[in-house]
Amino acid sequence: MKVTVVGAGAVGASCAEYIAIKDFASEVVLLDIKEGYAEGKAMDLMQTAPLNGFDTKITGSTNDYSKTAGSQICVITSGIPRKPGMTREELIGINAGIVKTVATSLVKHSPDTILIVVSNPMDTMTYLAHKVTGLPKNRIIGMGGALDSARFKYRLAEALGAPLSDVDGMVIGGHSDTGMIPLTRLATRNSVPVSKFISGERLQQVMEDTKVGGATLTKLLGTSAWYAPGAAVSALVQAIACDQKKMFPCSTMLNGEYGMSDICIGVPVILGKNGIEKIVEIELTDSEKAHMKESAEGVSKTNNLLEF
Ligand code: 2OP
Repeated sequence: MKVTVVGAGAVGASCAEYIAIKDFASEVVLLDIKEGYAEGKAMDLMQTAPLNGFDTKITGSTNDYSKTAGSQICVITSGIPRKPGMTREELIGINAGIVKTVATSLVKHSPDTILIVVSNPMDTMTYLAHKVTGLPKNRIIGMGGALDSARFKYRLAEALGAPLSDVDGMVIGGHSDTGMIPLTRLATRNSVPVSKFISGERLQQVMEDTKVGGATLTKLLGTSAWYAPGAAVSALVQAIACDQKKMFPCSTMLNGEYGMSDICIGVPVILGKNGIEKIVEIELTDSEKAHMKESAEGVSKTNNLLEF
């Protein structure tokens, strides 16, 4: 199993490291445009192999896409991260051009690949990848909901005073500070609805904290987060590489599901060797449907800024 990660910055390098440590891929190619940067990160990561006990071979490349040829899975993390106070949507001006070039270069050398898009504004970058590559819709996946759900579980566990392993919850909708929909109604503590343990008011705070989870970290770190985003991407890569049939909320091109078409937005999907193997349509309340409609309007507004 060969995996390419484009962008050797914090998110891309973390993703490569987690893939290597999980040791399910034979090779990870880390590519960056900055001279020697990916090669250096790859070498540094390979020198952890004797200590972390993995056999995955990590190699680096400075913008030579021939080195990515034959990748079954390609992850796009390249582009600029946001600074404190910025929205993800403000990155579109620079990141759209980068993602367009990267996506087309990857598919040229790996026409059968499955693309996972991380670069922000992620839902719009995922939509852009569809438009510029023409890959089948099951082979382009946007990573946002897996990360947002992890942050949702973190906030739920904090509110519950429970171990994270006891908590389950999912975030759907757009990967944006205003568009996320943490499904508090369906969240559980070891199969028991969380509403049994915490008040509606406290759940509302959990929802709000989840939605700004990325911005909270950007304010603390001075740049976008990388550990959890990298871990979320590696979980999607593993689900595909190992044909796990795992369900994650991912940004997916909809053609009528959830009453929407020609938009990429976070919905539950089953991931396996063919990428998105099933879009799972769950029953939403009227309020959740209204939030989803509002979220989609926000994503469409950003999509309309794209110039093909
Ligand atoms: C985040 O929420 C980078 O969008 C990513 O941290």
